[in-house]
Amino acid sequence: MPTLNWIGKEAVINHHDEVPIHTLTHDPNRSFGTENEPLGTGNLLIEGDNLLALKALLPYYAGKVKCIFIDPPYNTGNENWVYNDNVNNPIIQKWLGKTVGKLAEDLSRHDKWLCMMYPRLCLLHQLLRDDGAIFITIDDNEVHHLRILMDEIFGEENFAAQFFWMRTATSPFLSKTVRRKMEPLICYRKSVTKKLSLFGGETEGGDMPLLNEGNALRQVEFPKEAFSRVNLKDGVYKPKDYGRVRLIKEVRVENRAFLSDLVMEGKFKWTQETVTREVKDGTLFLIKSDRFSIRYERQQSQRAKVPSNLITKDECGVGTNEDANKELEKIIGNDKFDYPKPISLVKYLINMVCSENDIVLDSFAGSGTTGHAVLEQNQEDGGNRQFILVELEPKIAREITAIRLQRASEGTTLENNDEQQYEFNIGGINRDTGGTFSYYHVGETFLEKQEIPFSEMAQLLFFKETGTPMSVDIALSLVEGDLPSYSSCTTNEKRQRAFLGSADGVGVYLLNSDDILTEDLIKRLPRHDGMKIIHCGGTQLTEATLKQHGITFRQMPYNLV
Ligand SMILES: C[S@@+](CC[C@H](N)C(=O)[O-])C[C@H]1O[C@@H](n2cnc3c(N)ncnc32)[C@H](O)[C@@H]1O
Repeated sequence: MPTLNWIGKEAVINHHDEVPIHTLTHDPNRSFGTENEPLGTGNLLIEGDNLLALKALLPYYAGKVKCIFIDPPYNTGNENWVYNDNVNNPIIQKWLGKTVGKLAEDLSRHDKWLCMMYPRLCLLHQLLRDDGAIFITIDDNEVHHLRILMDEIFGEENFAAQFFWMRTATSPFLSKTVRRKMEPLICYRKSVTKKLSLFGGETEGGDMPLLNEGNALRQVEFPKEAFSRVNLKDGVYKPKDYGRVRLIKEVRVENRAFLSDLVMEGKFKWTQETVTREVKDGTLFLIKSDRFSIRYERQQSQRAKVPSNLITKDECGVGTNEDANKELEKIIGNDKFDYPKPISLVKYLINMVCSENDIVLDSFAGSGTTGHAVLEQNQEDGGNRQFILVELEPKIAREITAIRLQRASEGTTLENNDEQQYEFNIGGINRDTGGTFSYYHVGETFLEKQEIPFSEMAQLLFFKETGTPMSVDIALSLVEGDLPSYSSCTTNEKRQRAFLGSADGVGVYLLNSDDILTEDLIKRLPRHDGMKIIHCGGTQLTEATLKQHGITFRQMPYNLV
């Protein structure tokens, strides 16, 4: 497979593994309608560099995100949009200098962009579910690089589609080469072994012709039970030509039903194999006249359309940049954010892959269109999709993203400097249907922390030991809403909480840094029959005794609170 080389590549290809896991700090003042929800549940807005945020999300969400939509900086070289179009953001510049070292001085605009994207895409890959998909908007500046990068990280066999989104109806006449109305949007799946059926809307109801002049002549047998309507008089129909089809076997009709299967030759759209499959899925056939022009009618559940690679208003009701600007203006005012995406675009993509309870992630959140799209979609169909958004710029995250999500949830705008009803959806998103979110900051690394909440450490260690996030039920049971805080528990109560669950038969335990493993302590822990990994302050047991009990001991230097 062809690969791409650039200055700095060597420094970034394993960088995602080297990034230390940071904590995520809850900010109750910027959260909306949530209190003490554990990470791993509910909607999230995280302020900070997505490299650190995505790594911090792994213990909670690895392999759990169904749909990722990202709209990264396009790297057009336009200095006016330094934050959402370039890699010249001071934080990213500093990160490049630290990660790539001296070479950073030689990096071209494209090298920088590739260095920035590579580790972030690696982490996104780890967060995606096996049957999930990622959509990335981009333009001509980097699309060719991005495709090769994605082939390398996701696998070229997982390329699903390159769509073209009509970004403007009125492209500027001042363009020097061509007027760009379309923007590429690429889609990769996580794994080719999982079926990915992209949903492009529903076909019209009603019946459709099965004959088509463009198809080859073929003989097909239709089971007599598969007809919903036979508009023919009672009697026997002899083999001969009837209009555009030829009856191959005689057939008798009684009470508007065939008494034997119908065998015909004609230019049918479907082969025998397709007809058999369709009948199995519930498709019915109709004969409306003695010309035997056969038609078919699918069940509602079968009417899913495969999407076209052209995403336009006419084809799929998806708006343009101009629509997106109007949407944002209505909810937060004029000139606050350049180039948001339209809600309808993100909704269309989410609906291509998501069911009602899936998780959607956007790690270049900008004005929060993805969160807004999830909220609207839930409102429309009563779903319970969750969003995770990450935005680097504090000013954007606090003053645009969070405010937009809150207003979308409350159903208000700031039109005419007055809180008015939010006009362009169906009356605001009810808190009961999930219009709440928790706001987080990317905090320190775990190593820098002196004291760590038990529930955070538990989820981190469970993930490190098993490679999978802890089940949401167990995570919820660790949260101290109804329980006494960990630090106020008696030694015995702490020991009863020590078992974090198991994966592949291996049980994971977490005790405090002042717990020393002894034969007596083992007896007091919740039982797990099988291998055990125990995190605590020290051990008095010999290697041989540990082995005899099937225990792997891990030193735990942190004080849990
Ligand atoms: C093109 S905008 C996304 C616009 C968004 N789709 C919308 O509809 O509003 C890209 C956003 O990514 C943010 N960003 C850039 N680098 C980032 C990083 N390393 N981590 C998190 N956000 C980042 C920028 O601040 C900007 O707001």
